[in-house]
Amino acid sequence: MTDTNHIKHVASPLARQTLLDSNLTRPVAGKKPIRILPWLQVVKIGGRSIMDRGAEAILPIVSELRALLPEHRLLILTGAGIRARHLYSVALDLGLPVGSLAPLAASEAGQNGHILATLLAPDGVSYIDKPTVVNQLALHLTATRAVVASAFPPYHNHEFPGARLPPHRADVGAFLLADALGAAGLTFVEDVDGIYDVDPNAPAGDSAILMHDTSAAELAKHDGTLPIDRALIEVMGNARHIEKVQLVNGLKPGKLTAALRGQHVGTIIKTGATAT
Ligand SMILES: Nc1ncnc2c1ncn2[C@@H]1O[C@H](COP(=O)(O)OP(=O)(O)OP(=O)(O)O)[C@@H](O)[C@H]1O
Ligand SMILES: [Mg+2]
Repeated sequence: MTDTNHIKHVASPLARQTLLDSNLTRPVAGKKPIRILPWLQVVKIGGRSIMDRGAEAILPIVSELRALLPEHRLLILTGAGIRARHLYSVALDLGLPVGSLAPLAASEAGQNGHILATLLAPDGVSYIDKPTVVNQLALHLTATRAVVASAFPPYHNHEFPGARLPPHRADVGAFLLADALGAAGLTFVEDVDGIYDVDPNAPAGDSAILMHDTSAAELAKHDGTLPIDRALIEVMGNARHIEKVQLVNGLKPGKLTAALRGQHVGTIIKTGATAT
């Protein structure tokens, strides 16, 4: 009889309380999580800004990534681009819900990843699918210096229904992974020098001012367009490990390398994570 009771009442500080009251869960759930891969550098390559430009933009980035391999262990994540836009318009015209659109765009981000991985294959780099990223990243990065994956988070049919276009795209996916893994850093590679007060490529973009430093809190108040997913701002605000990310211009050789060496060469965005 006594034994049965012991089995039924598993000793746990959360066993007898609701998970809905943060005051009750905080003593257990409020601790900072461990860093799973503290030596990892995550690099997100823009789908629209880099991959869609073809050889002219991709080959110099491939050379730069190749040269970085002896220095860093990399998780290279790719965004979606022009083909996702086409898929979105066809699917929206047909009335497909956001949860059906998300995997379509994710598969295009994956196609870009396959392209990059193929070019880096002679250096031991392969494309890995999301379940492998989640379960075997340490194993793969012990066997080789870098892997490539789609930056899209696998919300798929679970995508939030507020908007018709998936709000959690490549930037959010890259950040969620980097923060969950406790990575050393996350760098966004695009076709602009950083985040400006207004789009530098818009008609009135000539007078755009580059922000060398900003924060998730500041960007939350920004009204205009941004070169990062809107949803990323809230995600960065709640980060646990990644204290800052940098957005650099991948069309300018050497910027990515400098960023991975800790230099300030683009826009640094402070997140909500703190050192302690
Ligand atoms: N405030 C801003 N500062 C800098 N660039 C901006 C700003 N607003 C808009 N942009 C535009 O964003 C473009 C980058 O687009 P986007 O972020 O969609 O590309 P991407 O990151 O390659 O795409 P994906 O997320 O699919 O990988 C830049 O070329 C620039 O014209
Ligand atoms: Mg972008």
